[in-house]
Amino acid sequence: MIAQTLDAKRILLVIGGGIAAYKCLDLIRRLRERGARVRVVMTKAATEFVTPLSVGALSNDRVFTELFDLDDEREIGHIRLARDADLIVVAPASADLLAKMATGLAPDLATAVLLAAAVPVLVAPAMNPKMWENPATRRNVALLRADGVGFVGPNAGEMAERGEAGVGRMAEPMEILAAIEARLTGARPLAGIRMLITAGPTHEPIDPVRYIANRSSGKQGYAIAAAAARAGAAVTLVSGPVTLPDPAGVAVVRVETAREMLAAALAALPADVAVMAAAVADWRVRAEAGEKIKKDGSGVVPSLAFVENPDILATIGHHASLRPGLVVGFAAETQDLIANATRKLEKKGADFIVANDVSPETGIMGGDRNTVRIVSRDGVEDWPDMGKDAVAERLVTAIAQRLGRAAHGA
Ligand code: C5P
Repeated sequence: MIAQTLDAKRILLVIGGGIAAYKCLDLIRRLRERGARVRVVMTKAATEFVTPLSVGALSNDRVFTELFDLDDEREIGHIRLARDADLIVVAPASADLLAKMATGLAPDLATAVLLAAAVPVLVAPAMNPKMWENPATRRNVALLRADGVGFVGPNAGEMAERGEAGVGRMAEPMEILAAIEARLTGARPLAGIRMLITAGPTHEPIDPVRYIANRSSGKQGYAIAAAAARAGAAVTLVSGPVTLPDPAGVAVVRVETAREMLAAALAALPADVAVMAAAVADWRVRAEAGEKIKKDGSGVVPSLAFVENPDILATIGHHASLRPGLVVGFAAETQDLIANATRKLEKKGADFIVANDVSPETGIMGGDRNTVRIVSRDGVEDWPDMGKDAVAERLVTAIAQRLGRAAHGA
């Protein structure tokens, strides 16, 4: 039985043009399962991707597409469509639709409804990463945010176009749903919770131009930071060098080395929850060369001596005075996953270990999907293969439950 978290709430869903439009079918189903009444407006471009027939079948209502449909204008015009809703959700919001919203253009029914809206608006952008990064889109997004428009996503990941990757994928239906619930019901299960999250690799210098690194992309830690912030937590994200944008509403501290990461993590305490998702280098070079190490032609190759880096998770997990109430670590292993993760619970003073197999064939390191197993003193819970954003949502829900907070429906 799914909790009726959106009982009798009226959602006006504006479906824009884009390949992600098909995800709206799932979103409509999930909204209705939670008791919401869903009315849909589709742009002309949206009808190229999903048919009004299938949308109408799921929303159990007629679908509105035309501005100058006389019947509509007499019976239920764009002003009424905009007024008879508790929330307007735009998904997928293309760059073109965001631009029209930002400048107040209204050439069709969807944009006329948005211009007439006096209720909160939440948008889920989806576009090619180049379009998302374009200064024009950046300006439009800033204008819309300043106008109070809420955003969910876009996420980092593979695009529909072959070989394209970056920020631009529409948020998953579950994330959009969580954002709708947060907006309409004030369900912010981590409100008032201070959270420290580490993410990304560390870079350990060899000389002024060379360093030792690893394949961590930071995607999972960033997704957890974004999900925790959406759930109302005050998040400090201590990030190693990655190419991801700062998640909305998160205080980001950027560092390079493990020692800098430790210092920044300690400075972020006290916190109620710590999630250590960073892939911290275990060793650093004992003596960083002050000048670039040169080939001297003698054929003698340099040898590097290493020293162990501080273990940030263990330092915080065993901290006498500043240990957060809940400490979550990660275990990226290529063998003996559960045995190693279970050992880490004690060794590092963690309450949960999120264990994943990072053998190259899994594609997890640097990829967008993750298959994790949650190891705690209560046992092992296997989660199915999911997007990193979905793993983040579910982890936030698990953390909220562990803290005794009511979490939004999973
Ligand atoms: O021992 P191992 O590196 O496998 O442990 C992984 C967990 O410990 C992760 O949560 C990682 O963020 C954390 N860690 C750390 N500092 C280190 C090494 C690992 O916080 N120096």
